[in-house]
Amino acid sequence: MLSQNELKQQVAQAAVEYILPFLGSGVVVGVGTGSTADLFIDYLGNHKDRFLAAAASSERSAQRLSGLGIRVLDLNEVQSMPVYVDGADEINHRLQMIKGGGGALTREKIVASVAERFVCIADESKVVDRLGKFAIPLEVLPMALGSVSRKMQALGGQAVLREGFITDNGNPILDVAGFSLDDATEMEAIMNNVPGVVTCGLFAISPASVALIATQQGIKTMTA
Ligand code: 5RP
Repeated sequence: MLSQNELKQQVAQAAVEYILPFLGSGVVVGVGTGSTADLFIDYLGNHKDRFLAAAASSERSAQRLSGLGIRVLDLNEVQSMPVYVDGADEINHRLQMIKGGGGALTREKIVASVAERFVCIADESKVVDRLGKFAIPLEVLPMALGSVSRKMQALGGQAVLREGFITDNGNPILDVAGFSLDDATEMEAIMNNVPGVVTCGLFAISPASVALIATQQGIKTMTA
């Protein structure tokens, strides 16, 4: 029986193999954040001469990439990327995700939006039929913590401030529990529209393009 960490290692390695055909001398690779993304970065380091640079979704990932000798570009210097590789807190069979457990959701959504393909990498514990058991992270402007919390309560959720945590953008996070989502795209649009919400951790309107899922039986590829 493989541990969760061993499954994450396997999928990180599989992700590097998956993206090899997209690499080339001028290629920028989009890189996510989290423990699975960390392992991906480590394996990516073995192929650093096969691409130009990376664009990172957090200071943490940027430091890890730089530490391996991979050049990290400011996203404003990047026009396009063939792939963005990142983990997820939950993913359903439509490849819609909840992300932001590591607090990097805003930059993740931005970097992913520049990439042609979002390659989600996760162990099988992250695959769900309905999104919402994992509380949905919202990056919020500090002055809107109260108003956004009340709005979430009116929608049927309970917002809890993530204590002692500030994002790379200098904002707090509310984790919103209590939703079991039939239509994650509708909820993402509603949350995006609440004044003071910088980013909602639902990645449903633009889901992953492909998911590589590590299971006890090997890597499974999910497409929508
Ligand atoms: C960070 C994220 C991560 O992708 C998500 O939390 C999964 O993390 P891990 O790979 O550590 O399980 O969205 O903001």
